[in-house]
Amino acid sequence: MKKRRLKEKVFWMGAIDWDRRLFDSLVPLPDGTSYNAYLVEGSEKTALLDTVDPVMADILMAQLQATPTVDFIVCQHAEQDHSGTIPLVLERFPGAKVITTPKAKTLLMDHLHLAEDSVVTVADGETLSLGDKTLRFVHTPWVHWPETMTTYLEEDRILFSCDFFGAHIASSDLYVTDQGRVYEAAKRYFGEIMMPFRAVIAKNLEKLDSYAVDMIAPSHGQVYDQPAWILEAYRDWVLSPPRNLVVLPFVSMHGSTRAMVDHLAAALVTRDVRVELFNLTVTDIGKLAMALVDAGSIIVGTPTVLAGPHPLAASAAFLANALRPKAQYLSIVGSYGWGGKTVETLAGMIPSLKVEILEPVLCKGMPDQVVFAALDRLADTVAQKHRESGFQ
Ligand code: FEO
Repeated sequence: MKKRRLKEKVFWMGAIDWDRRLFDSLVPLPDGTSYNAYLVEGSEKTALLDTVDPVMADILMAQLQATPTVDFIVCQHAEQDHSGTIPLVLERFPGAKVITTPKAKTLLMDHLHLAEDSVVTVADGETLSLGDKTLRFVHTPWVHWPETMTTYLEEDRILFSCDFFGAHIASSDLYVTDQGRVYEAAKRYFGEIMMPFRAVIAKNLEKLDSYAVDMIAPSHGQVYDQPAWILEAYRDWVLSPPRNLVVLPFVSMHGSTRAMVDHLAAALVTRDVRVELFNLTVTDIGKLAMALVDAGSIIVGTPTVLAGPHPLAASAAFLANALRPKAQYLSIVGSYGWGGKTVETLAGMIPSLKVEILEPVLCKGMPDQVVFAALDRLADTVAQKHRESGFQ
């Protein structure tokens, strides 16, 4: 793909990765992704904003072939999918300076072994003149890592946002054309990497309120030429209370836990509580992360394996603990063959979750009417808690 014009002397560059199916060796990418870079040519100086994942460096370097000079490489985020090609760009343009935040400078030196004198740090709100175009750097930490920033191109009112507002989508469309598709991908991405930092992201959103933004140009996915809806979506994910929704990740070995989960799900629906079930043997964890953005309660279903929770359930609990969703209630249901410490072990794995633990339901062997009655009581409790909390 060749460079593409966004505005006069402002271009999309980068690479579309149609094939990639896993990010950070963890996160599924059902729709591929893109690594967007942007070229801003001022009347006096030229800046390249972000680069691409090194696996696709040749594409960016080919796009830059006709560019006579790059004076500044703006690094908005030190993670390698955006910064990893900076060394090659510096080889091609040895006089260029890397512009970034103070925290990113040390990360770039650690991760890419950049020379200290090749990196210039900018303060929050500082500007850089390219002649007839002005870049203003806005520190927006924790829109993945602690060093992240966004860049506002004042004359064209474009916000370059890197991971912030990004979506893992490979598409030949430069601008968002299918809002529903992008909403889902952006929510998934928010859930996977930004959800734990909601308090800081709320401040970042507030900070951006003072900028008139005509276009948001992230470093994954498509450009938002009508950015209002994605800003509103982020406000919802960050600030709105949880929904009247139970997220139920579970695993079952011989059917007992599955029977309990199915009974509980039906009981919750009967009580007007929405449920989303995730069978962990076939779950895309991005979908689970996305559901956790809204969950009012989390209920983990697990059999007992070697005296503890099934490893897949333990992994889901570990993930939920790391993502720190807004959910306010948590419980555990499951079965065991002869004994164990499933509840104690799982409860010990979620110290970061600010949740009230609701009475777990465990049964020996296949569930009977006594167990189903206990699950009905758990559903009663969840419904009551959600009503009292005002979850919609
Ligand atoms: Fe797209 Fe945090 O890197």
